[in-house]
Amino acid sequence: MERQLSDYEKYIRTEELLHLQKNEDQLACEDELTFQMIHQIAELHFKLVIQYIGIARKEMEAGNPHAAIRQLQRVNMHLKHLPEVFNLVKVIDPIDYHTIRLALGRGSGQDSPGFNRILQEGPTLLEPFERLLQARNLTLLELHQKPQEHDDLYRLMREMIQFDESFQSFRYHHLQLVKRMIGLETNSLKGIPAQALQKGVRHEFYPPLWKVISELTDVTGSSYNVQPLP
Ligand code: HEM
Repeated sequence: MERQLSDYEKYIRTEELLHLQKNEDQLACEDELTFQMIHQIAELHFKLVIQYIGIARKEMEAGNPHAAIRQLQRVNMHLKHLPEVFNLVKVIDPIDYHTIRLALGRGSGQDSPGFNRILQEGPTLLEPFERLLQARNLTLLELHQKPQEHDDLYRLMREMIQFDESFQSFRYHHLQLVKRMIGLETNSLKGIPAQALQKGVRHEFYPPLWKVISELTDVTGSSYNVQPLP
C-alpha cells in the first residue's frame, strides 16, 4: 500500500523534487550527484532572482523606488550567497569531474535558462530608472552630487550598482571554479576556449551608472588643486 504523504511532503512535493536527480545506479560516479544538484540549486536561486527583478521593474515603472529597492535587496542577498555553490562543487576532484564530463554531451551552464534570463532581464531596469530621474529633472551626476536630496533614487541606484557588481562577481567565481576543475588553457564541451568566459566577467548591465562615477571623479577632482604633502 502506498505511504501516506505528510502535508509538508505534499506542499513541497518532495517526492517529485528528490526524483529529479540521477538514481544511484545511473551516476557516472558518486560526485555526479553533487554536480547535478548544485546546478539545480542554482537554477532555483535564478528563478527567485528573476521574479524579484520583474517586481522591481513594475515598481519602478509605477514610480515606487522604495518598493523597488526592497526587491533589489533580495536579488543582492541571493547573488551574495550564490558564489558559495561553486565552493560546494570544488569538493569534487578534477579527475572525478572528467568522469562526470563524459556524461554531459555538449551541455554547459551557457545553456542555463535561469542565467540567460537574468542576462536578458537585468539591463531592463535601466530605462525605468532613467525615467524616474527625468521625472525629477535630475542627471546621474547631480544625483551623486546631492545624494541626501534624493535619498530614494540614490539608494535605488546603489542597489542597481550592487546587482551589476554581484552578477559580475558570480561570473568571476565561476571562472575561478572552471580554472580549478578543467583549467583555462582548454576548450569547453562546445569547443569554445574556456578563456572566453573572462569577457563575461567584465560585462556590465548599467554602463551609464559606472561611467558617471569616473565623471564625478573628474568633475570633483578638478577642484582639488592637489598640493604635495608638507
Ligand atoms: C566542475 C565545475 C564546472 C565546470 C568545469 C564548468 C565549466 C564551464 C564552461 C567551460 C563554461 C563555458 C561554456 C561554453 O563555452 O560552452 C561554463 C559556463 C557556465 N557555467 Fe559552468 N562549469 C562548472 C560548474 C558550474 C556550476 C556549478 C554552475 C551553476 C551555476 C555553472 C554555471 C555556468 C554558467 C551560468 C555559465 C555561463 C557563464 C558565463 O557566460 O559567464 N557552472 N561552465
